Amino acid sequence: MPRPGVLITRTIPASVIDRLQAACDIDLYSGPTAIPPDELKARLAGKQALMCLLTDRIDAAVLDAGRGLRIVANIAVGFDNIDRAAAQARRIVVTNTPDVLTEATADLTWGLILSITRRIPEGERMVRRGEWKGWALDFLLGSDLRGKQLGVVGFGRIGQRVAARAGAFGMNVVYTTLDADAPGDGAGVPGAVRVPFDRLLTTSDVISCHVPLTPETRHLFDGPAIGRMKRGAYLVNTSRGPVIDEAALAVALRERVIAGAALDVYEREPVIHADLYALENVVLAPHIGSATVETRTAMADLAARNVLAVLAGKPPITPVSP
Ligand code: GLV
Repeated sequence: MPRPGVLITRTIPASVIDRLQAACDIDLYSGPTAIPPDELKARLAGKQALMCLLTDRIDAAVLDAGRGLRIVANIAVGFDNIDRAAAQARRIVVTNTPDVLTEATADLTWGLILSITRRIPEGERMVRRGEWKGWALDFLLGSDLRGKQLGVVGFGRIGQRVAARAGAFGMNVVYTTLDADAPGDGAGVPGAVRVPFDRLLTTSDVISCHVPLTPETRHLFDGPAIGRMKRGAYLVNTSRGPVIDEAALAVALRERVIAGAALDVYEREPVIHADLYALENVVLAPHIGSATVETRTAMADLAARNVLAVLAGKPPITPVSP
């Protein structure tokens, strides 16, 4: 029997390739940037599995190019790059990589919270420009976290782990979730209190976004929503860029409607709204929430195990429901 073919759209750790190669033929795209859509379609012919990244748009046309496809394994927890309805209509399983990246992403979120509230990147830029003149009592003053309120928008795996770290910094936590079936007060995090979105918006000192990108969450933070935040508040996003209206955020930051923002994700990555570059009160990270050796290896490994399970006729380990 011929071995199944797997297309992998970007270089992944050798240990994961070895795991796959024991049972499959691998076609690895190793170009310096995301695989061009035409090349993706061409290489999918005759493949049974696709391992892809959040930078690959997997729509109906791509799925049709891979007529024998049985699984699309996204190496990411988010899956807004995949047309799940189109996959379901073609009986193609879609999987993602939850859990393995939760702690790394929660860590980066706190890195961003500390970076913006303590102005670390701003100070670093100043040092490198040779503009630091020495210690002064009123130099580069940020905001304390102790005694302040963290508002977590979206209380899934990552939101809960971000909230769980808040006690270490003396913050109390409120959270909101758009999902009516979501856990109630304190679920997973003792002391965390569930509140309506507007209350979180108007009372939190730091707001951190942990929602998937859906029609409901697109531009959840638009101009009016940002305008309802406290004047001294900070907005942090490690979820998906379009959750925040970047143009509206740039205006709000320039006019000091809020104190600052720290972003790891953007509306049109890797393009960032031009006005944000000039602002000191925003930290711009290059979508590195899960970017540790251990976590990225675990993500690729989980995607590979999903592929192997489905190709062996078993249920996927971490399916995404349509
Ligand atoms: C990263 O953004 C992911 O969805 O895994």
